Amino acid sequence: MKSLINIEFLTKKQITNLVDLANNFKLSDGTFVQESIYPDKTVGALFFEPSTRTKLSFEIAALNLGARFIDFDCSQSSLKKGESIKDTIETISLMGVDTLIIRSKEELFEDLINDLPNINFINAGQGILSHPSQALTDYMTMNEFSKSPDNLDILVVGDLDHSRVANSFLELLKITGSKRIRLSGIPELCSKYMDHQQFEYFDNLSEAISNVDLIMALRIQNERLENTLSINHKDYVKSYQITLDNLQLAKKDFLLFHPGPVNWGIELEKDVEFLSNTKIKNQVANGVAMRMAILSSIFSE
Ligand code: CP
Repeated sequence: MKSLINIEFLTKKQITNLVDLANNFKLSDGTFVQESIYPDKTVGALFFEPSTRTKLSFEIAALNLGARFIDFDCSQSSLKKGESIKDTIETISLMGVDTLIIRSKEELFEDLINDLPNINFINAGQGILSHPSQALTDYMTMNEFSKSPDNLDILVVGDLDHSRVANSFLELLKITGSKRIRLSGIPELCSKYMDHQQFEYFDNLSEAISNVDLIMALRIQNERLENTLSINHKDYVKSYQITLDNLQLAKKDFLLFHPGPVNWGIELEKDVEFLSNTKIKNQVANGVAMRMAILSSIFSE
């Protein structure tokens, strides 16, 4: 794998290989392999939007593999003087950075790959469009807790229209073969998927959650709603919050995922945090192992 741009560029075999590789980087005590396998590799991170999980897990992953990690501060760079992103990346690569992890506000990678074919790129979240490393992490977590991860009844609930996580997760489920996927959330935040052939939309959460195996709750992306749509949080909580009560309608051994960060008390009731079915912390930890797998696949190409 030379770069990781979109889930749709991967085959099921590549996805399962990445999950297997990531599992090999996990140790039984919950820590990760730390071996200087790639001391000659230098990774740069350019984040144009905030991040905790993705950026830090890529940094820890690179360091665990013995690579160097350069955290490029976009706000203090010559980007502020008007230098283009392409020129910035080319400049960084001339200094020896071979792999660039980028979180961008909008579509960026198609031009970069055409203009700078010798650099390896990793999409660490692209506006509302895609977040492939999160989808791979979530599939790894599905594999950890389900014997038949491709045969689950899945509900994705929340702000679907603004969720890059949802886009990549649904794309991945198409490739890995999940057939029974439900969506729910206020209609104004699910318009992209309302008439989609592959999914079943429910505006009633109780119906949507009945007998599902996996619930993926999504954050209300308040920062992306400004000037377009204002959400009444009280109404949202009443109709779409995942609670101890409505989780009783799911299958007994349901799994509850959320890619984070969570707006506790909005998309998830606080009390669901400590249920054994809630795997949000496992998603975070698996993020390190999966990002080690992504980096090592790119380094070894
Ligand atoms: N899930 C996710 O992308 O989290 P961060 O924004 O903290 O990286």
